[in-house]
Amino acid sequence: MGSPAPSPDGPTAENPLTLLTLDELRQRTSVKWRMHPPDVLPLWVAEMDVPLAPPVADALRRAIDLGDTGYPHGTAYAEALGDFAARRWDWHDFRVGHTAVVPDVMMGIVEVLRLVTDPADAVVVCSPVYQPFYAFVSHAGRQVIEAPLGADLRMDPAALDEAFRQARACGRRPAFLMCNPHNPTGVVHRRDELEDVAELAARHGVRVISDEIHAPLVLPGTHFTPYLTVAGAENAFALISASKAWNLAGLKAALVVAGPRAAADLDRMPEEVGHGPSHLGVIAHTAAFRAGGPWLDLLLDGLDANRTLLATLLAKHLPSVGYHRPEGTYLAWLDCTALGVATAQPAGEPGAASDLAGPAQMFLDRARVALSSGHVFGTGGAGFVRLNFATSPAILTEAVTRMGQALDTHPPSAG
Ligand SMILES: Cc1ncc(COP(=O)(O)O)c(C=O)c1O
Repeated sequence: MGSPAPSPDGPTAENPLTLLTLDELRQRTSVKWRMHPPDVLPLWVAEMDVPLAPPVADALRRAIDLGDTGYPHGTAYAEALGDFAARRWDWHDFRVGHTAVVPDVMMGIVEVLRLVTDPADAVVVCSPVYQPFYAFVSHAGRQVIEAPLGADLRMDPAALDEAFRQARACGRRPAFLMCNPHNPTGVVHRRDELEDVAELAARHGVRVISDEIHAPLVLPGTHFTPYLTVAGAENAFALISASKAWNLAGLKAALVVAGPRAAADLDRMPEEVGHGPSHLGVIAHTAAFRAGGPWLDLLLDGLDANRTLLATLLAKHLPSVGYHRPEGTYLAWLDCTALGVATAQPAGEPGAASDLAGPAQMFLDRARVALSSGHVFGTGGAGFVRLNFATSPAILTEAVTRMGQALDTHPPSAG
């Protein structure tokens, strides 16, 4: 693995997932590479093993050279997203005036919840889902109601209908926190499914908040539909940033986008929320949406190849593990229930990202591969693991080979 780093002078035609060696990655100080000892291959938290996209690195370098490190100003970020959304997703009535910059997607979600729900109101989520949906909602004093995904891992209108009814019974102003593309399953919701959501939400008086952080990461063969382009979604909100697709989680800045009938709510967002995003974050995210398209296309090709490689590796080394080919994200949701590993849940609330149990603990102990444990994603997650395949084919191959060998040498039934 590993070839020379890309030229800082322009885009490269190489797969960004093949440009950093394991030795280089181990020098990183972010949580992915520091949570576990150096013999562990980390395929857990949603960070990617890529260098910065050249247009993003250039924009940051320019800011550093100028000492342009003051407070953020203006609407360049929203304008760049609006242009990107029109080009990629045919979203032509994106209104820059209906956006607000927030520190990150999760903080934006919490602030929108404060605008459209009251303490103790219910927030519906489709489990299994990104674990902070539980922790952040409950820490904001709202209660979570689950509408589990169907067996095909898609949203289940009957479960949503029932959850919305319950949510309505619990309080005056319920909300639905949707994840599209869905983390951890990689499902991308279709327009007809989103129309069902809008119809159900209108019927029950539920406000929809759509977390679309993974939207640029929809893989070849699938099209992303922004929720705010769906009829009936006019009073909803979307949360979007360049953080996942360009690996910018450490450069804080995200956007809340309000539908036309939610803009007045967004106007009530307290001023201090806009003081949280970092100016360098805004610069980086703006450059990503404005000029990061060619790099993103190379990345998507690399991720597409990795999702196929993963299928081949699992068939060879872990044939009893179920793999539902993701349509978006770089996350694979692996059904390990047939391995027979005990899946007892440790005490504690869902949302504790470092909690390990069952198959994830077993793969960490015996294969020295770190995965996310399925049980933290809520109902339906126990017995699963989430594998982050935004890495080089060489690291992915080594990790799955080790996982297979761990089972060969220590079959779970033998303890
Ligand atoms: C669905 C989803 N929402 C939000 C986040 C976190 O985004 P941020 O760091 O902008 O809060 C992630 C990170 O992986 C995610 O997968």
